[in-house]
Amino acid sequence: MLAKKYASVAGQSSVIREIFEYGKKRASIVGADNVYDFSIGNPSVPAPASVNENAIRIMQTEDSCKVHGYPSAVGYDDTREAIADNLNKRFGTNYHKNNIFMTTGAAAAITFCFRALADSGVGDEIMVCAPYFPEYKCFIEGAGVKATEIQADIKDFQINFNELERKLNEHTRAIIINSPNNPTGVVYSKETLEKLASILEEASNRYGRPIYIISDEPYREIVFAGKTAPYVPHFYKNTLVCYSYSKSLSLPGERVGYIAFTDDIEDADIMLGTIGAVARELGYVGVPSLFQMVVRDCVSDTSDISVYETNKNIIYKALTDMGYSCVEPDGTFYIFPQCLEPDAEAFCKKAQQYDLLLVPSDSFSCTGHFRLSYCVPTERVERALPLFEKLIKDYRS
Ligand SMILES: Cc1ncc(COP(=O)(O)O)c(C=O)c1O
Repeated sequence: MLAKKYASVAGQSSVIREIFEYGKKRASIVGADNVYDFSIGNPSVPAPASVNENAIRIMQTEDSCKVHGYPSAVGYDDTREAIADNLNKRFGTNYHKNNIFMTTGAAAAITFCFRALADSGVGDEIMVCAPYFPEYKCFIEGAGVKATEIQADIKDFQINFNELERKLNEHTRAIIINSPNNPTGVVYSKETLEKLASILEEASNRYGRPIYIISDEPYREIVFAGKTAPYVPHFYKNTLVCYSYSKSLSLPGERVGYIAFTDDIEDADIMLGTIGAVARELGYVGVPSLFQMVVRDCVSDTSDISVYETNKNIIYKALTDMGYSCVEPDGTFYIFPQCLEPDAEAFCKKAQQYDLLLVPSDSFSCTGHFRLSYCVPTERVERALPLFEKLIKDYRS
């Protein structure tokens, strides 16, 4: 007999994965060129040349026992110092190496935070703002904690504060936010963050313990011209930033990211150790050494992310000209238009008849929308536009 908790869900994969797999099968029938797979958020641009150059140099010149050896649980000192310095230059903060815990991507970072901030099986809650990255719920519930959903504010996809205030209670331990946002592409404004901070400060005082913000920021650098993504710790001291090099350096397979918190955070003195205890229990024994060293040396680089903005401009204009309704993304490589019928799954099934692979919004706990990932070559976006036109004509006829 296997563990019931896991055996009961064995073989279930995410809707996004299912669509991705369907796309591969369909490509073997009609040809890859004729399938427009906008389902998955895998960066379409290569890592910058500095990544390979540094990886080769490090392998050729640095101590092999370090390059391929066990890293310390919190990460290499020099990598954490390089990250702290980089953040301090960009955001005027005072991070030092003991404010940084290296993780295998943002997925591990947020999982560690959920477990470090909330106790299992005692009714603790973590808030999530719809629409949200589907794995949040899996990670929170896996930690034995309740995921309390805040319904989407579909007018602009900022935070639905009425609902948030209604659902905040003495069991709330943290709220996870994600800006720039997957799936909407929206950046939370300064006003949104100010209001969130003021509500959480008041609630923390009311309940006599801190309610933390977990700021999930894998898309921090992918922000379009004229927009800026305000840095969340500037608004609220009890913030843990979860970062990843998966998108900014196009390194999702290398699994490198970190958690950052300032010395002002509540329980700062035991934060690193508590996160370390979570990592230990989950069996994480550090982050791949070579790529910690690469990140140390490429800390201020990004891949050429300009194609995402080019794609956004093309697709946003074309879809809205055709009559689709959507909030313009401020960043990321996602757009989240309204479906042409209330049932998002039915709409995405219909789109599949045109070989357009889109993700229904129900996967992100929001109805009536679809997510389109435009991390694809621009030519693919352009070639797909007539199919979106056919789809809308089909609905109108
Ligand atoms: C919002 C969000 N958070 C976290 C992750 C996980 O990223 P990583 O590859 O760093 O684990 C993703 C990946 O797509 C994401 O979109």
